[in-house]
Amino acid sequence: MPVLQIEHLTKDYGHNRGVFDVTFQVEKGEVYGFLGPNGAGKTTTIRHIMGFSRPLLGYTLVNGLNSWERASDIQKNLGYLPGEIALPESLTGTQFIKMMADLRGINDMTHTNYLISKFELNPAGSLKRMSLGMKRKLAIVTAFMHNPAILVLDEPTSGLDPIMQSVFIEFIKEEKEKGKTILLSSHIFNEIDATCDKISMIKDGRLISTFTSDELRHNESKSFKFEFNSNEEFERFRIEVQSQKYIEVTSLKRHKNQAEVRVNDTDINMFISIISDYDLKFFSEIKFTLEDYFMKFYDRNSKTEGGANNNAIDRN
Ligand SMILES: Nc1ncnc2c1ncn2[C@@H]1O[C@H](COP(=O)(O)OP(=O)(O)O)[C@@H](O)[C@H]1O
Ligand SMILES: [Mg+2]
Repeated sequence: MPVLQIEHLTKDYGHNRGVFDVTFQVEKGEVYGFLGPNGAGKTTTIRHIMGFSRPLLGYTLVNGLNSWERASDIQKNLGYLPGEIALPESLTGTQFIKMMADLRGINDMTHTNYLISKFELNPAGSLKRMSLGMKRKLAIVTAFMHNPAILVLDEPTSGLDPIMQSVFIEFIKEEKEKGKTILLSSHIFNEIDATCDKISMIKDGRLISTFTSDELRHNESKSFKFEFNSNEEFERFRIEVQSQKYIEVTSLKRHKNQAEVRVNDTDINMFISIISDYDLKFFSEIKFTLEDYFMKFYDRNSKTEGGANNNAIDRN
């Protein structure tokens, strides 16, 4: 049984906002990345997992328990770090830690003290006067002081300075080593890449892609860029690729006689035999980075110019 199950989760806030038919599962011991730009629906999904919000359709389960029906049971063995932190301003950090320890019935403060020193938290001052970074550290310590088996982290590194961001990533790796199950939302590619086994990307409330980090690393296609020696050769290629399935054209620049294509690794030989029949000025592979993969889904990749299709002719 997966530790976290999100099944057809739908919450419609109107005007196409919310989350729609979101489905994914997080297995025990997995670090699962939940990646998407601001407003994509990450927090909405996570609030449903926590049992703070009731789905319109679908459901979420934590260790098989329905989030909405069993919220308080679920939260006992789960550490939740919200994206926006609201702390009682009238307390000192030390008082707040004590209060949370009492609420959770924690007597042995060994783990709490470990977290305090790891994150270099100085809890002495009043919360009202604490910096945002210090408040986040306090939230981190109190979210994980009961050493929960499941961690649900909503953009956990926002508001932390770069050093603390790397301490946090190290903490996630340590927790993973201990066999914890972790859901990590982020709009930052690097922290997902550094830690996650599996990743779902969400955009406009809908999952657009789910893949393992291994799949991402062993990318199964390659991109090539080349220029023909004449416009006749360019045109001959343009017509030929329309009638075969091995080559996906991502860009055609008629004025420069240039083309960019993507080819599956299994079709490389076929592609080479096709392209070797042309008179080329140059030919090179476009190295494909992990970030390119993400950017493709974020519609911010100017390089793909209108997306991958055979009619992507740039007339400039
Ligand atoms: N309580 C709410 N009422 C109305 N709209 C909401 C509410 N919560 C979130 N939204 C909208 O739902 C969309 C997803 O928001 P959110 O889950 O916070 O995105 P993310 O965490 O990925 O930045 C946004 O368009 C947001 O404005
Ligand atoms: Mg959010």
